[in-house]
Amino acid sequence: MNTSTHPSASRCPIDHRAQATLPGPNGCPVSSNAAAFNPFEPAYMEAPAEYLRWSREQEPVFWSPQLGYWVVTRYEDVKAVFRDNILFSPANALEKITPATPEVTQVLQRYGYAMNRTMVNEDEPDHMERRRLLTDAFLPERLVAYEPMVRALARQYMDRFIDKGRAELVSEMFYEIPLNIALKFLGVPDDGAEQLRQFAVAHTLNTWGRPTPQEQLQIAENVGRFWQTAQSILDDMRKRPDGEGWMYETIRQHLRHPDIVPESYLRSMMMAILAAAHETTSNATANAFLTLLRQREAWDAICENPALIPNAVEECLRVSGSIIAWRRVATADAVVGGVPIPKGGKLLLVQVSANFDSRHFENPEEVDLYRENAVEHMTFGYGAHQCMGKNIGRMQMRVFLEEFTRRLPHIGLVENQTIRYLPNTSFRGPDKLWVEWDPARNPERTGAAAPADAGAFYIGPPSKDGLARTVRLQEKHIEGDGLFRFVLADPRGRALPAWTAGAHIDLIAGGFRRKYSLCGRADDRHTLQVVVQREADGRGGSRHFCDLIAAGSTLQLAGPKNLFRLDESGRRFVLIAGGIGITPMLAMADRLKHLGKPYEIHYAGRSRRQMALLARLEQDHAARLNLYVKAEGRRMDLRALLADVDGGTRVYACGPDRLIDELETMSEQWPENVLHFEHFSAESSALDPDKEHGFVAELKDSNVSVTVAPDQTLLQALQAAGFDVPCDCGEGLCGTCEVNVVEGDVDHRDKVLTKAERAANQRLMACCSRAAGTKIVLAL
Ligand code: HEM
Ligand code: FES
Repeated sequence: MNTSTHPSASRCPIDHRAQATLPGPNGCPVSSNAAAFNPFEPAYMEAPAEYLRWSREQEPVFWSPQLGYWVVTRYEDVKAVFRDNILFSPANALEKITPATPEVTQVLQRYGYAMNRTMVNEDEPDHMERRRLLTDAFLPERLVAYEPMVRALARQYMDRFIDKGRAELVSEMFYEIPLNIALKFLGVPDDGAEQLRQFAVAHTLNTWGRPTPQEQLQIAENVGRFWQTAQSILDDMRKRPDGEGWMYETIRQHLRHPDIVPESYLRSMMMAILAAAHETTSNATANAFLTLLRQREAWDAICENPALIPNAVEECLRVSGSIIAWRRVATADAVVGGVPIPKGGKLLLVQVSANFDSRHFENPEEVDLYRENAVEHMTFGYGAHQCMGKNIGRMQMRVFLEEFTRRLPHIGLVENQTIRYLPNTSFRGPDKLWVEWDPARNPERTGAAAPADAGAFYIGPPSKDGLARTVRLQEKHIEGDGLFRFVLADPRGRALPAWTAGAHIDLIAGGFRRKYSLCGRADDRHTLQVVVQREADGRGGSRHFCDLIAAGSTLQLAGPKNLFRLDESGRRFVLIAGGIGITPMLAMADRLKHLGKPYEIHYAGRSRRQMALLARLEQDHAARLNLYVKAEGRRMDLRALLADVDGGTRVYACGPDRLIDELETMSEQWPENVLHFEHFSAESSALDPDKEHGFVAELKDSNVSVTVAPDQTLLQALQAAGFDVPCDCGEGLCGTCEVNVVEGDVDHRDKVLTKAERAANQRLMACCSRAAGTKIVLAL
């Protein structure tokens, strides 16, 4: 299988000549960066994504001689490996990354330690059969009951320190509450919490750390005791066959289906889950507070607008998740990111590096509470093994943030504290987190900290509603007939998010939400510019923006988001615009000029009064600009313009359907990846249940079948089944809801895919497209 978008699959694609030092398993030399990679040194834990920036940029899959693993750092590669849990088995997920010395083996043997397959490291078909049997307790309707418990505990713990003005949040709250909730969820008695903490640390260092042989001995003692404790907890639980909690349910399933939930699984799972069910959430919470308090503006924003908290949770999981790298092992010769991986090759998938990949996330370094695709982070893994407890973690993090922003919005980090992490490849969270505040300013002393709204609590990924920031229309210029250029700024003069050529924003006002491509200067961080065309016969959105929003008014803005990226590797660029389609083309022209790449702009319109941005185009791109003004008798002849397209040409187009259709037809004769386009609008994608048929979507990566009723979109059915498929436009325009197709014909109804892409039958837009027949198999 080739999971690659990188060039060569037969040999290492990296030019190591300059840095060659050591031979790697592929025979090609290992670069000095790869040779130096050491995830056990403090720099990795302090800023893991930064530590691996060189890899994302230059060598996205590399052999680490110090670790004996292939390290994978780009988003698409990490996801592709997670997706295929047959070729890339999770069997090594809980293996000791530092082999045991003979003395350590002896200690572990003394305790009868025999960590075996659990869930997270089980292969198919056993894994999925087991996961299905044990999944009910994780369903949102069952989890709802835990939210009041978490909230009550959060309030109670805060009461203990709220008047003190200083607290160490990890030991005073973030460790114990997730542990309490985890024990409750599992059904395990909650005595011995302190000991469990020691055990969990030992388990992490034993499995993912690189202790010295001497340290390993001490750790092994604790691991052995943890193993025995897991057994005695299990023995006690077996005495109460009707107990409540997930481990009780697991024991009952073991009695009913010993072949699917075997005895060996019970004990290994007990030990693994005792650590996984709380450490992950404790660490993720502490990471989130550290991240948001370091970015005061983000913290203040969630204090002002708690509706942002669910997405803030997701964004914190993206930039500072508690599991930053996970493992797989190749079951056959494979290729990842163009690099051959031999059978048996072990892979370290660095999720946090994937989460900082600018090919997938716009401005990845920024904590952007409004980021619409934050939920696509890899922190919970992906595919058949994706974290079962993700909604328990999310829910707790959300409640903690809600309670703190309401009761202690004025907390700050204690300055000059040293943040320490446990040295290991995978589990990341500060050991201590000191915060301070002035108790005299506590809102509850003035009666200002009203309890959070007791409305229904939604369990699951954040919804996109409420993700918009407020902006001010700083200037409104008339660009032509019915054309208005909006210059938008933050009301308090703060910087706005960075964006790249081809990006768009959504403007929201008066109940209307419309997308507009950005066309200002990308290096101006204080304003965003779009051109709004007033459509007299449209659905009312553009009329509302043009007629009723005056300079000085505020409105809501979502994004920026880029679904029309410029492939900068092209040799020659042809930018084609019709009417208002010039806006993304201007941003692309700016970028290409900056890069010094050859480009030409071809811009067609009815009359100059109906064409936007002409002054700026003349000013900055006069030498590359070709205008085709119908009223002046000049028409664009696409065939003549594009007679000499080759594999290095990139044609970018935005305009009316007939322009795009013609280009699509021409592109059938061109090499792949030449034509890129963006449509203005979709024809109505409303579902008419009388004309639709239902079908079954088989999700291959997760081994689940979802039934799609005639009155449901595929996207709705997937979301109802707990799959976090993101959606933006909901009408087949943006490409956000794309899902890969494995088998089955698709009835494509989107405006995103080219004819060739449709014919290839490998992708579909779940918000509008459907199965042509009664079944479709998806890579989800
Ligand atoms: C699996 C992360 C919370 C239960 C995983 C995996 C990751 C992960 C990375 C492996 C995914 C893969 O191989 O594709 C996290 C994070 C959490 C969290 C970051 C908190 C923020 C929890 C909680 C529970 C839990 C609270 C249980 C109460 C599980 C289980 C699996 C798993 C049972 C195995 C799923 C399978 O292999 O099918 N988690 N986890 N997790 N997690 Fe979590
Ligand atoms: Fe935009 Fe489906 S959500 S294409």
